[in-house]
Amino acid sequence: MTAPASPRTYRVKSFGCQMNVYDGERMAELLDRQGIAPAADGEDADLVVLNTCHIRERATEKVFSDIGRLKRADGTSPMIAVAGCVAQAEGQEIMRRAPSVNLVVGPQVYHRLPELIDAASKGERAIDTDMPAETKFAALPARRKVGPAAFLTVQEGCDKFCTYCVVPYTRGAEISRPFADLVGEAQRLVDAGAKEITLLGQNVNAWRDSGARDADRRGLEKLIEALALIPGLPRIRYTTSHPNDMTDGLIAAHRDIPQLMPFLHLPVQAGSDRVLKAMNRSHSVASYLAVLDKIRAVRPDIALSGDFIVGFPGESDAEFEETVRLVEQVGYAQCFSFKYSPRPGTPAAAMDGQVSAALMDERLQRLQAAISAGQLVFNERSVGRTCTVLVERKGKYPGQWLGKTPWLQSAHFTGDVRIGDLVEVRLNEALGNSLAAQLV
Ligand code: SAH
Ligand code: SF4
Ligand code: F3S
Repeated sequence: MTAPASPRTYRVKSFGCQMNVYDGERMAELLDRQGIAPAADGEDADLVVLNTCHIRERATEKVFSDIGRLKRADGTSPMIAVAGCVAQAEGQEIMRRAPSVNLVVGPQVYHRLPELIDAASKGERAIDTDMPAETKFAALPARRKVGPAAFLTVQEGCDKFCTYCVVPYTRGAEISRPFADLVGEAQRLVDAGAKEITLLGQNVNAWRDSGARDADRRGLEKLIEALALIPGLPRIRYTTSHPNDMTDGLIAAHRDIPQLMPFLHLPVQAGSDRVLKAMNRSHSVASYLAVLDKIRAVRPDIALSGDFIVGFPGESDAEFEETVRLVEQVGYAQCFSFKYSPRPGTPAAAMDGQVSAALMDERLQRLQAAISAGQLVFNERSVGRTCTVLVERKGKYPGQWLGKTPWLQSAHFTGDVRIGDLVEVRLNEALGNSLAAQLV
C-alpha cells in the first residue's frame, strides 16, 4: 500500500445513536482546526471517517462493505479511518481484514485523530483503542456554528451490563463530565445559534457532578436548572434514561422547569418480569410503571417513548404478549423496537432458547403494529392544540417547513418563518408519523 498524502478534505459518516452523531460533529471540528476542510457534496474526500455502531448484528460486516465501496474507479482509496463502537470492539480484526483502512480510533480517544492522521500520512497503520482516565473533552476545540437543535454529551459509558448489550464494553464505565464544563459548552452552543439542547448519555440520568463530595453530588436536575438560566435557550431535553436512575428530583424538574420539554424516553425492553430478569435489567414491569405514574402526576401531558427487544433468548409466546399488553397499557407517543441480536462476548449470546428469525419477524411486526396504533392515538389527541414549534428545516414541498412540537412530534406547515424560529402553530391533522399544522 502506498502512503496516502496528508488529507486536505474530509467526510465523517456517523451511524448509530445520537452520541455517535455528537462525536462525529466533534471530530469534524477537530479536523477543521487541523486545516482539513469538509468535502463538498458529491465530491470525493481525501479522508473518510466511518463512525460506526456495534449495537446490533452484522454491524462489522456493514463496516467492511462500506470500506469496499470507498474504492474509487481508478483503484485508489481515500485515507480511511474507522472510529466508533466497532473500532473499539473489533479494531484488530478490521486492521487484519481490511488493508485499505489506514487508522482505527476508539470512541474515548478520538481527540488523538490528528496524530493518527500524521502517522497514516507517513504510511504507518495506526490503531488506538485506549480508554484513558483523562477525558477527550478537554482536548477538543470550541464548538462551531450549529443548527437550532444541538446535542451535548454529558455522560458516557454504562455500568449496567444488560446481558444482551455491547455498550459497557465499547464505551467503558460510566463517567460524568464536570458541571462547569457543561454549562460552558451549553453557553457556547447557544452563542452559536442553538435554541434547543438535548443532553446525551448512554445513561444520561446517571449523570452526577464529579467535582463535589459524594454527599452533595448534584444530579441531572441541577444541571438542567443551571442551563435553564442561560438566556436564549428556550428548550432542554435529555436522553437516554434508565428507569432505576429516574430520581424524584429529576421527575420534579418536569414540573418546575418550563424549558424542560414534556418528553421522556425511558426504555423498558420487555413486558415480562422473567425476561427482564434474564436481561439483567434490574427493574420490574411494576417498578417501571410506578416511575411513569410519578412523572404523569407532575406532568400530565408528558409524551412517553421506549425501546423494546423482541425474541430475547427463551422468550415464550405468552411473555411476548405481555410486551404487547404493556405497549397498549402505557400509550406511548413513539417507540423503537428491535429484533434481539446476539452480540459476541455478551452473556445472552450463549443462552439457551435462541428464538428463530421467522418468529422474531412475526413478533416484531405485531409489536410495531401496536406501537403505530398507539402513536396515532397520541397524535390524534394533539389535534386542535396550539403549541410552539422549533423550525428545524425546509419540508419536501415549496414553502413548507418542518419542526418539532414540545412532545417531539414532527409538525409541518407553511408560512414566513426562518430556521431557528420558535413559532406558535395549531395542530390540524394527525398523519402517521407527523402532524399537519398552521401558523397562528
Ligand atoms: N442505554 C440505553 C440504550 C442503549 S442502546 C438503555 O439502556 O435504554 C439502544 C437500544 O438498543 C436499547 O434500548 C435496546 O432496545 C437496543 N439493543 C441493545 N442491544 C441490543 C441487542 N443485542 N439486540 C437488539 N437490540 C438491542
Ligand atoms: Fe446497554 Fe443496558 Fe447499559 Fe442500556 S443500560 S447501555 S441497554 S447495558
Ligand atoms: Fe451504537 Fe455505540 Fe451508540 S454501539 S448505539 S454507537 S454507543
